[in-house]
Amino acid sequence: MRSPWPATVKGLNMLEQLIENVHLITLDPEREGAYGLLPNAWLGIQEGKIHSLGQGDAPEAEMTVDGQGQFLSPGLIDCHNHLIWGGNRAEEFEWRLQGRSYQEIAQAGGGIASTVKATRDASDEELYQGAAERLQTLLDEGVTTVEVKSGYGLSLEHELRVLRIAKQLGEAFPVQISTTLLAAHALPPEFKDNSDAYIDLVCEEIIPAAAGENLADCVDVFCEGVGFSPEQCRRVFESARAHRLPVKGHVEQLSDLGGAKLVAEFHGWSVDHIEYLRPEDVPSLKPSGTVAVLLPGAFYSLKETQMPPIQALREAGVPMAVATDLNPGTSPLASLRLAMNQACVLFGLTPEESLRGVSQYAAQALGLGKQKGILRIGFDADLVLWNIKHPSELSYGFNLVKPAAVLRNGAWI
Ligand code: NIG
Ligand code: FE
Repeated sequence: MRSPWPATVKGLNMLEQLIENVHLITLDPEREGAYGLLPNAWLGIQEGKIHSLGQGDAPEAEMTVDGQGQFLSPGLIDCHNHLIWGGNRAEEFEWRLQGRSYQEIAQAGGGIASTVKATRDASDEELYQGAAERLQTLLDEGVTTVEVKSGYGLSLEHELRVLRIAKQLGEAFPVQISTTLLAAHALPPEFKDNSDAYIDLVCEEIIPAAAGENLADCVDVFCEGVGFSPEQCRRVFESARAHRLPVKGHVEQLSDLGGAKLVAEFHGWSVDHIEYLRPEDVPSLKPSGTVAVLLPGAFYSLKETQMPPIQALREAGVPMAVATDLNPGTSPLASLRLAMNQACVLFGLTPEESLRGVSQYAAQALGLGKQKGILRIGFDADLVLWNIKHPSELSYGFNLVKPAAVLRNGAWI
């Protein structure tokens, strides 16, 4: 969408753009008060960045847009997403409704393994097209940054293929894609009964190749009984470190194996899921600045009853992010806004925590905490204009409020 407001051309050598008459949801921790709110304010944009912001007299600009008293927030960030896959797992959904567990289905060759087969069998175009449709659904809600994981290829060729497609999506769509290598997601069939040999391949070939081609921003693991042991994940993290790649982990999703502590030991960006993380282990996340990524879509879809240790996270001051975990098995959810609502209703987050979880802390969970996620001078001008009466509306409704406009790097989309 182009700017729906008439531009006023005022001359050169002045501020490029000004959005005036807006309530700024800055979320800047240096601003006191709920949501870091700056009412009746303006925001200046120069070269894709936030140049200035304030209340009262605004500077002149080449183009001035009247925000009509609406709210302006940072672009939303989905920091945990398995966007690219082949096939469809609707049948598995039926089995789970009939009472079969996720683990049972995985052990019988369904689950992730079935998506791996379908992903390997799909053409590049099929993978791109399916992911593009899901990506557009996310962007329509005001998302401007998306993490994209591999993890359904599970071979050198297919893991790298998926990461290349993720990069192509980032070039074709108005979004920043953060790529994550999740080769240690599940055991591929050709390594049946030999998971250590697969971890050798991950550490000695896949991670070096992804790093060499600059295809991954981070390395992820699935530390779980149906995934990989903490010892195997440690080897993956050591290889990532040797190639100067940061790490994160799917940990404590179905059981407590101590994966979160391991991620923290490697100063990981985030620990994700964490329903089975014990409250007494939460403080170990604090010194490394590791973000706790809450994935209520998977909790909901698996009908999980074990709650993540929210109060312990709050008390320890561990930042909480919220993401979709969009994937064909445990979280077929292409709505970050619904994830925000679920985080409030299912996990008891406040609407402000939930909004910070998809902006300020989601940026931190992707290593982007110094450039995205809050409205502050020098940060990227990824912005969403909302026709709402209060920021809590962003977590409250299901598909009630859509963005009035979205800007990425200062460009209207
Ligand atoms: O985040 N936990 C492992 N990975 C995904 C599920 C992937 C799948 O079932 O296809 C998750 O929940
Ligand atoms: Fe996941």
